[in-house]
Amino acid sequence: MEHQARAEAMEKTNVAIVGMGTVGAGVARLLLDHGDRTARHAGRTLWLEKVVVQDLAKPRNVDLPKGVLTNDLNDVLNDPSIEVVAQLIGGLEPARSIMMKLLESGKDVVTANKALLAEFGPELFDRARELGRSIAFEASVAGGIPIITNISQCLSANQVQSLQAILNGTSNYIVSEMEESEAAFESVVLEAQRLGLAEADPTLDVNGSDAAQKLAILAHLAFGARVHWSEIPLQGIDQLQLVDLKYANQLGYRVKLIAVAKLIAGGLELHVSPTLVKMFTPMSEVRGANNAISVVGDAVGRVFFHGLGAGQMPTASAVVADMMDTAVGRTGLTFKTLELWSDQEARVQMADPATTRSRYYVRLQVLDQPGVLSQITGVLGENNISIASVIQHSPDGQSENNVVPLIVMTHEAHEGEADAAMKKIEQLETVKSSCIRMRVLD
Ligand code: NDP
Ligand code: HSE
Repeated sequence: MEHQARAEAMEKTNVAIVGMGTVGAGVARLLLDHGDRTARHAGRTLWLEKVVVQDLAKPRNVDLPKGVLTNDLNDVLNDPSIEVVAQLIGGLEPARSIMMKLLESGKDVVTANKALLAEFGPELFDRARELGRSIAFEASVAGGIPIITNISQCLSANQVQSLQAILNGTSNYIVSEMEESEAAFESVVLEAQRLGLAEADPTLDVNGSDAAQKLAILAHLAFGARVHWSEIPLQGIDQLQLVDLKYANQLGYRVKLIAVAKLIAGGLELHVSPTLVKMFTPMSEVRGANNAISVVGDAVGRVFFHGLGAGQMPTASAVVADMMDTAVGRTGLTFKTLELWSDQEARVQMADPATTRSRYYVRLQVLDQPGVLSQITGVLGENNISIASVIQHSPDGQSENNVVPLIVMTHEAHEGEADAAMKKIEQLETVKSSCIRMRVLD
């Protein structure tokens, strides 16, 4: 606030925030307390003119100047002096209608709402282009990591070959906590909500939808794919069992929710799934609410981005940088040429998931009797799946009802053949559970 008062004399761009929850409050803090940074980098003050919320009585933890807080969106729409608006409401509605109204009243918009972009991106971008306005969305993928700018600008001389990423901070936080302290799933979800990491509906975090929405945006930017996020095969961490984290560790892996986009012979391989990641690789060491994206470009080779992918200030960092870029006109320039959600044809189609290849971790509960292993290896062999290693033991060396866990690590196999093999194995009388199967990343 002090900086905002001091900066009153210099050139300014009036800005507003719509939605002041976790992220909005962080944005307000950066604008009010660190106006010197925007002055230094953008050559002007970003002057916080209005903040729109639903409930005026709610405690906010941010000391806003008098007259800034309102519950009437018209205070922003009808004020032509406000040029840039950070729209920080989650979910689809009223976020979509509010975004449209802001564009139609002549505002450039900055958003962190990936669900909105993944669902209504084409409609919103078309409208913004028609109106000569821009939408900046760095914070929508991987929070504080500047991955949107890197893929759409810094790496634009490359054909991206593959992306492997941890894109949901909440899931990574939950799995890290379960692995490190054996904490129960439900209690860690509550903690992620308390820390402001999780979505208003945390189901979207733990069932993989949030990561798939972000992957759809990245696949669109990096490969020119036009795939709706709901078409991406996805599995979240909500079914993950502590025992599989332990077996993975024993085998030298950590389990992570990994999003993949990769060019293969049949098109673009896309999926989000819990995956065993080889220990001591950079991806396996990504802990807590951190995200990471490993990008391979044909010119640059592999580049690795790491940082906080969720939480108040990391996300606010990306939003305020977008507001500065918009205020100085940089976003307007790139937005016009950005291929994202333009009327250009898709450059690549999604590959048939059955044709993708991976190594797999498979866990089964089987009868502890002779011949069982050969039945299972027989089915795997019939489906061209070769075994890398097998472990059969119960954690305490005892079997319960003569049933023991059997863990099989395979060599690389076709997803379609792995599906077929698992169906057959589950029908064997000696197999007493459904198969737990996860991809393996070495
Ligand atoms: P919160 O739920 O904490 O905040 C949402 C805010 O929107 C609240 O202040 C709420 O007002 C306001 N709001 C809701 N409806 C309206 C309305 N009709 N008019 C005005 N204000 C309204 O969400 P977050 O800050 O966590 O997330 C915001 C967006 O950022 C989401 O799209 C999320 O996916 C995304 N995001 C979040 C990250 C995070 O770490 N939290 C990271 C990256 C992206 P009130 O307070 O009065 O109820
Ligand atoms: N809920 C999201 C996450 C916020 O945990 O990654 C950042 O998009």
